[in-house]
Amino acid sequence: MSQRSTNVTFHDGEIGRAHREALLGQRGCVLWFTGLSGSGKSTVARALEADLYRHGKLVYVLDGDNVRHGLNGDLDFSPTGREENIRRIGEVAALFVDAGAIVLSAFISPYRSDRALARSKCPDGRFLEVFVDTPLEVCERRDPKGLYAKARAGEIAEFTGISAPYETPDSPEITIRTGEHELAECVKQIRVALEERGLLDAPEVE
Ligand code: ADX
Repeated sequence: MSQRSTNVTFHDGEIGRAHREALLGQRGCVLWFTGLSGSGKSTVARALEADLYRHGKLVYVLDGDNVRHGLNGDLDFSPTGREENIRRIGEVAALFVDAGAIVLSAFISPYRSDRALARSKCPDGRFLEVFVDTPLEVCERRDPKGLYAKARAGEIAEFTGISAPYETPDSPEITIRTGEHELAECVKQIRVALEERGLLDAPEVE
């Protein structure tokens, strides 16, 4: 993206992220779900959202199909369309993190470089990549939206896993296998990862 805004400066008030986090009793962070269509990203994100909400946490889900109706409705599924999709989501997620929220983002995000860019926008330790490691055969068998069938029939071009690439994460913080484990187990695995990192505790502020 080329920077067209000039003569703009950042402003910080006396209230920072830690103050907001103290108010909320948590630390702002992103759980960046990545995986094939039908891998279970949204399902796990929604179940985790409900679980954390019941534990009194402020959680916000950014979901591929929803965001592509609004903010990113102008983007297609070409490599550059996907890159811009993830770039914008990365910026939005970073703003939510600064607000102190726990963000669950659920996008295929097939390119490593795009995920790395999103990571770079967040403070250290506040971006956890969650690889939803569901084999293509399983996603295709599930085919919840009937899109794999259409892609195989040549009715959808550049479909991830069929006619467009998916680059698996090199070192995700968390890997979940929805084909092998129950939903509740996947949710617990992620909650434990958050607890271990102290992300569900409030910071000390003056
Ligand atoms: S991403 O690749 O740019 O990260 P995103 O997560 O926003 O994708 O959107 C993926 C969703 O869009 C899929 O779950 C599916 O419902 C729909 N979709 C429509 N066309 C495609 C396509 N060509 N490839 C992948 N998903 C598609």
